[in-house]
Amino acid sequence: MDANPAVTYRPLRGGENWLLLEASLGNFNWKVPWFSREQVLARPDLARYTLLEPDRGDFGIVVEQDTEPIGVAWALYLPASAPGYGWVDESTPEFCIWVDEPYRGLGIGRALTQRLLAEARDRAVRRVSLSVDRANLRAKLLYMDLGFAPIPGGELYGVLLWQDPAVRGA
Ligand SMILES: CC(C)(COP(=O)(O)OP(=O)(O)OC[C@H]1O[C@@H](n2cnc3c(N)ncnc32)[C@H](O)[C@@H]1OP(=O)(O)O)[C@@H](O)C(=O)NCCC(=O)NCCS
Repeated sequence: MDANPAVTYRPLRGGENWLLLEASLGNFNWKVPWFSREQVLARPDLARYTLLEPDRGDFGIVVEQDTEPIGVAWALYLPASAPGYGWVDESTPEFCIWVDEPYRGLGIGRALTQRLLAEARDRAVRRVSLSVDRANLRAKLLYMDLGFAPIPGGELYGVLLWQDPAVRGA
């Protein structure tokens, strides 16, 4: 699971919303610079991805090199009144991931996703959803390789759903 022994993984802490803002900017601008920091913060549909609320059950994993975060995966229980683009229901957290550009393609995104799904299983979270741009093949292939699958009705926002293999089909 540890693709790169020089990096370390730790839980994401409440109060690290600055990191989620950096990560969300990287995600919304995955192809071209569409949004500024200010625009993300001004748009509730985007800003909600930058707020971790551990009391709600939100959780995440940070990957660091020399104590500097170089990537993060996180899962948010967004409410029906303020859903995300990958929202399925209130008991299914929505997953996001970002790896800083110089560190991409080294297996870190895969390891982060695997760790987040392992954490989900430890928490008895049986389903995790996400939204991925249909053109973001790199991300989409990674998710599908790790068990995420498209769901009917989720085509517009590229919604994929992971279900714990231990209970899938039960
Ligand atoms: C998507 C992202 C999180 C993946 O993280 P990563 O550390 O680069 O991913 P990995 O190195 O673990 O590679 C995962 C898969 O990506 C693909 N991949 C890796 N390098 C690639 C490259 N240079 N070109 C195309 N695909 C590549 C491979 O399919 C790889 O699978 P493999 O393990 O079978 O080789 C990262 O690229 C990223 O942050 N991208 C920008 C933001 C983004 O798109 N976020 C997702 C929003 S939904």
